[in-house]
Amino acid sequence: MTYDAFIRSLDDKLRQYRRHLHRHPELSKQEFMTQQFIIDVLTQHGIEHVAAAKTGVVAYINSGKPGRCIAIRADIDALPLSEDTGLPFASEQKGVMHACGHDAHTAILLGTALTLNQHRERLNGSVKLFFQPNEEVSSGAKDLVREGFMSNPDVDAIIGLHVMPHLDVGTVELRHGALNASTTTIDITIHGTASHAAYPQRGVDAILIAAEVISSLHTLSSRISAAHLPSVLSLGMINGGTKRNIIADTVRLKGTLRTTDDNEKERIKQHITTRTEGIAAAHGGSATIRLKDGYPPLINDPDLTDVLIDCATEVVGKDHLIYKDAPSMGAEDFGYYQTHAPGAFFHIGCRTPGVFDAPPLHSPKFVLDEDCLTVGVRMQVAFVMRMLGTS
Ligand code: NI
Repeated sequence: MTYDAFIRSLDDKLRQYRRHLHRHPELSKQEFMTQQFIIDVLTQHGIEHVAAAKTGVVAYINSGKPGRCIAIRADIDALPLSEDTGLPFASEQKGVMHACGHDAHTAILLGTALTLNQHRERLNGSVKLFFQPNEEVSSGAKDLVREGFMSNPDVDAIIGLHVMPHLDVGTVELRHGALNASTTTIDITIHGTASHAAYPQRGVDAILIAAEVISSLHTLSSRISAAHLPSVLSLGMINGGTKRNIIADTVRLKGTLRTTDDNEKERIKQHITTRTEGIAAAHGGSATIRLKDGYPPLINDPDLTDVLIDCATEVVGKDHLIYKDAPSMGAEDFGYYQTHAPGAFFHIGCRTPGVFDAPPLHSPKFVLDEDCLTVGVRMQVAFVMRMLGTS
């Protein structure tokens, strides 16, 4: 059987896998049943694997012949949401839902494992399959990297995918270069001096300082950052003051900075600090600023993106290949792997054609068209065949 026919024969099984996972979602770092399910499927098919990153799994497909090593990553965690889809296989876990499609990602990677295992005589080198926990909270990718899974053997290239409900099933979306932004958390505390509201001259108004800081930081993307390099700064929390007639002595601001360029990120961070300190000092107050880098940006390797474009042309056809014109300022922890090996990431459509109001990812009404499962497997297998295939 060709591998394409084999993948088609997996269709029902993949839907069952996905529905089982959908029914039993688990939050980040608590994916114990999910981990066991993955281990059971791999064991049943005689596929070598180890537990990793506490609640994840890494599987190995070894051709027994020398060659490169390719890694493929699926994230496996769910979100703290109460499902509102009415599906017969809806979540049985109260307040937890696979609303980001990671159930589909997991089923797809299991399908890829079965397919590659069945056809490993057609490969050189080896493949590592990362069933990665904790994408939504604090980066299971970082844990897998720290535990050494990008080495022994060294991974030469890594790919990943995400389902997208704004795209019809049967489409693949990608782009060269930046696909997702980096994240930096912003924590600012403005220190003033309390006094009676009737006598502000005796204090230093932290609320007034905060107002100027907020206005000033919102000009960084338009006046400090280069126009061709996307960046966005958003402050989502503000907290300060104790009583209407007391000049506030403390205001706390919390926000996030997103960029796709590390040098630009460092420049903006420097400006956040100098401006905030300067504005506070000008008023006779002070500021404590904590900027903490989170996920790195996801930058698609140009050569691997070309390979994926060839795969998409083969799998879905040129007319269903969507070239994304701009990066997303959302984050994806896949970027951690790319600090160790070139990588590329792509999106597959999961909207039923003709449905134009498909709920977005992270919505309690999110649903996906399971026809995307075999598209995902075919893309991953096509990539491996192009990179490691013997013929
Ligand atoms: Ni996701």
